[in-house]
Amino acid sequence: MKKSMESQTTKKGKNKHSTKKSSKKFKPTYDWTISEARALYESSKCNFDIDIIHYEDCIEGMRKLPDNSIDMVVADPPFGINFNGKEGIYNRDKNNVIEGYKEVEISNYSEFTNRWISELPRILKKSGGVWIFSGWTNLKDILFALEKNNLELINHIIWKYQFGVFTKRKFVTSHYHILFAVKNKRNYFFNKIEHYPEDVWNIKRVYHTGIKKNATKLPTDVVLRCIDFGSKPGDIILDPFMGNGTTAVVCKGAYRHYIGYEINKQLQEIIEWNLSKIKLGEFYTPYSERTNDKREKN
Ligand SMILES: C[S@@+](CC[C@H](N)C(=O)[O-])C[C@H]1O[C@@H](n2cnc3c(N)ncnc32)[C@H](O)[C@@H]1O
Repeated sequence: MKKSMESQTTKKGKNKHSTKKSSKKFKPTYDWTISEARALYESSKCNFDIDIIHYEDCIEGMRKLPDNSIDMVVADPPFGINFNGKEGIYNRDKNNVIEGYKEVEISNYSEFTNRWISELPRILKKSGGVWIFSGWTNLKDILFALEKNNLELINHIIWKYQFGVFTKRKFVTSHYHILFAVKNKRNYFFNKIEHYPEDVWNIKRVYHTGIKKNATKLPTDVVLRCIDFGSKPGDIILDPFMGNGTTAVVCKGAYRHYIGYEINKQLQEIIEWNLSKIKLGEFYTPYSERTNDKREKN
């Protein structure tokens, strides 16, 4: 693993990053060749099953995990807006939407949010971080639960996408929130893989017409971006709400291990199909070899 000295200050105390010139000299904080990344993936050790999805309630599942065992959490919880994924306004072919999306009652949302978030501090490693997706309607419950459970907020990212539902008397919602919080603000993992990574991400939502799916699939690019910045090859990444298995797919493609939960057993077939199409490591390129084009696409 190479760790660059880029983040140090100069002798005069000035931050090297302060000029545009430094963008040409930029090196990611950590980087690995493909064979190093694969070796890290193959040498990971832990005393519970990994690269597995359990079809059960995530709160019950997480209670069975050992202390300090998870490097990073990616969570895209149910929306709490009485969404069933089959609404016509979402412009979907209802026949391609898998039944059984498990929604949470709005009246229970804050209690549910606190229950699943309260499981995270115990299972996270000391340097671990959580990346939680949220619309704006229930954002306050997630922020409140993070604070209540002593998870410290590092970034509040806005994911801007190109599509929103047509409105007549209000603005069209075309963004999502991604909250990056950690167990310990003084010692958390973050790989600065870009010179100037901003907290507004422009990533298109992908519409897979004619393919069976759960109604709320995230683009692989947005999950990959979280995983690239928030973890190392070989790390263990937990997703409590697997849906279509996007986090598992990205982990397999990026030499990370996954463990996850999904309460809707009807999604098993689609998750396994999505995983079978991905080759181990196929998304991984050493960070210093990524073209500017690729780095700046977000
Ligand atoms: C917003 S979707 C996740 C979508 C996923 N990120 C993807 O890209 O496909 C939320 C998922 O959580 C599942 N779910 C709801 N309550 C759950 C619970 N208590 N435990 C595990 N999964 C649950 C739902 O069935 C749904 O598939």
